[in-house]
Amino acid sequence: MKILITGAAGRLGSQLVAQLEDRHDIAEADIVGAVSHNLDISDYDACRRLVAEIQPDFLLHPAAWTDVDGCALDPTKALKINGLGTGNLAAATAKSGIPMLYVSTNEVFDGAHDRAYTEHDAPNPINAYGYSKWYGERALAQVNPRHYIVRAAWLFAHGGRNFIQAILGAARAGKPLRVVTNEVTNPTYTNDLAAAIAQLIETERFGIYHLVNEGAVSRWQFARFALDEAGFADMPIQRISRHEWNRPSLPPEYTALANLAGASIGIRLRPWREALRAFFEAEARI
Ligand SMILES: NC(=O)c1ccc[n+]([C@@H]2O[C@H](COP(=O)([O-])OP(=O)(O)OC[C@H]3O[C@@H](n4cnc5c(N)ncnc54)[C@H](OP(=O)(O)O)[C@@H]3O)[C@@H](O)[C@H]2O)c1
Repeated sequence: MKILITGAAGRLGSQLVAQLEDRHDIAEADIVGAVSHNLDISDYDACRRLVAEIQPDFLLHPAAWTDVDGCALDPTKALKINGLGTGNLAAATAKSGIPMLYVSTNEVFDGAHDRAYTEHDAPNPINAYGYSKWYGERALAQVNPRHYIVRAAWLFAHGGRNFIQAILGAARAGKPLRVVTNEVTNPTYTNDLAAAIAQLIETERFGIYHLVNEGAVSRWQFARFALDEAGFADMPIQRISRHEWNRPSLPPEYTALANLAGASIGIRLRPWREALRAFFEAEARI
């Protein structure tokens, strides 16, 4: 297949390119970065022109404005890129019947549940980033019937700016660590997510999917496990609540995601602790 990938220089986008380029003809697009096509997804004419030029068989769309605090400070920009931008790509692909996969987030949910959210639960975002991503989901679903919506959570990736790298960097520098206990979801390895997406796009089973590594934990537990694994078991981490971490965007409290739809067609991701160990092993080789 000829696959056009947005956000191809990003954490997940670059991993999708790496995993798909042996089997498919890949066209990489991003707003900036070392990619073959520059595309600002908030520009409808540019989306339409690029899709017409490439004529892909499939559009993979992980591009987004992922700065959640930036989105809280400028919700209009968030909506323009994550919401309307996704609608632009949906319209550009729908015209030619091109299937499209959009990567969304656990933050479309309000976090008020006491059980994991399934693909059938109703979104109710509580912050600007979550709202903009949900807007993108609806824009895609309304315009292009040949769509997949893949919700992910807490991605950790090689070479990027991630929570894990930030925690380890602080530990190495001997800085005191404070991490939130009441924000819970599924830490997810970009390599595992990219592999699951590569499987999903072959199925033509369009719909909503929760593709995350198995198991949900708090940020504090995630940080604790990462430090223990990385040899910093003696490093204390102060427990704080979401409200004590002073930031523009308030994350939802409990957004564990249950993968029902993917599992029903044989697409499962391993438990997150196993995935994080594999991540550290790969980091040591890099
Ligand atoms: N990271 C997470 O923990 C997480 C969790 C759940 C879901 N997700 C979703 O997963 C997807 C991939 O996340 P990621 O962490 O890989 O993101 P990322 O590393 O920030 O990559 C996103 C890419 O999109 C680009 N981009 C930003 N604005 C754009 C625009 N107007 N037009 C075209 N491209 C634009 C970014 O460029 P710049 O870097 O120059 O802005 C970046 O290269 C996103 O859709 C995100 O919402 C992420």
